[in-house]
Amino acid sequence: MKAVYIERHGGPEELKYGDLPDPLAGAGEVVVDIHAASVNGADWKVRTGESYRKSQFPHVLGRDFSGVVSAAGAGVTDFRIGDQVFGVTEASQEGAYAEKIAIKAAIVAKKPDILSHVNAAAVALAGLTALVSVEDTLKLKPGETILIQGGAGGVAAFAIQLAKHTGARVITTASAANHAYLRGIGADEIIDYNAQDFTKVVSGCDKVFDTVGGDVAQRSFAVLKPGGCAAFIASGPQAPKPPRGDVQSLRPNVARDRAHLERIVALVSAGAVRPPEIRLFPLSEAAAAHSISQGRHFRGKLVLTMR
Ligand SMILES: NC(=O)c1ccc[n+]([C@@H]2O[C@H](COP(=O)([O-])OP(=O)(O)OC[C@H]3O[C@@H](n4cnc5c(N)ncnc54)[C@H](OP(=O)(O)O)[C@@H]3O)[C@@H](O)[C@H]2O)c1
Repeated sequence: MKAVYIERHGGPEELKYGDLPDPLAGAGEVVVDIHAASVNGADWKVRTGESYRKSQFPHVLGRDFSGVVSAAGAGVTDFRIGDQVFGVTEASQEGAYAEKIAIKAAIVAKKPDILSHVNAAAVALAGLTALVSVEDTLKLKPGETILIQGGAGGVAAFAIQLAKHTGARVITTASAANHAYLRGIGADEIIDYNAQDFTKVVSGCDKVFDTVGGDVAQRSFAVLKPGGCAAFIASGPQAPKPPRGDVQSLRPNVARDRAHLERIVALVSAGAVRPPEIRLFPLSEAAAAHSISQGRHFRGKLVLTMR
């Protein structure tokens, strides 16, 4: 199969497009012929070695995909060859930048016709992360106010729509070029972070969901009301320490399971969430997509196509 892999950590030029052996379905696994895989913010951090150092190479990157089941291992009863599926690899594993992947059947879900392979790949990990963060971790309720940092990113696009569907008021931050897009997906108030300090214009939030990290994450505590709660996905494996004692700081545990993928399907089918804006690249051009992703100022999702 064709795949994109690294043989050592480094820049986008370390992404090699070449042939690797086809994977086989072990017990409880399916092999999926991948049609599309998305580029996630985590991918370039794995490529550079910033998030963790790999000890075994070649290492195929990529955490989410959509495709068609082409083989099933012993004990797999819930999928048949030809089923259209989508999924997210287990936390410590990757391998979606490839024409095929072997993956535990239990964490894969059926892809509905309403989602193309490209759209399904685009919402898999981003949707899972938004659901675990906004519903499971922050437990956002109708009538609450949430600040979502980094509104134009892939995770935030899902989170904004989810928060609106929940009945919350949504404030978000983005550069001016992205404001019309964010209004279109339901944001109530959008702050141009290049022109205004969000801590000066936002206060009294029940919840914060930060997808930006760094200084933005640390300053986000200032907008919470007493008893408020913030969740962080771009600040490493630990939640940042709050500078005040009356708020909570949480790091969502984005576990992979079929139930959350089915929740994504339900939300899309109900019209509550639409896939984000998408830019397509053939698999062989993954390095170009990585350079854009690492720049951290593109809108929506970058998706690699295999077929
Ligand atoms: N399992 C997990 O924990 C998990 C899963 C998925 C993602 N993540 C992490 O979550 C983060 C978000 O990922 P993503 O793929 O959704 O998006 P991303 O690629 O990291 O972010 C892109 C967006 O960030 C915005 N941005 C950059 N700096 C900003 C700032 N100072 N204030 C507000 N917005 C800013 C940009 O919009 P503008 O052009 O408008 O600036 C751009 O649209 C990444 O760090 C990723 O590694 C974690």
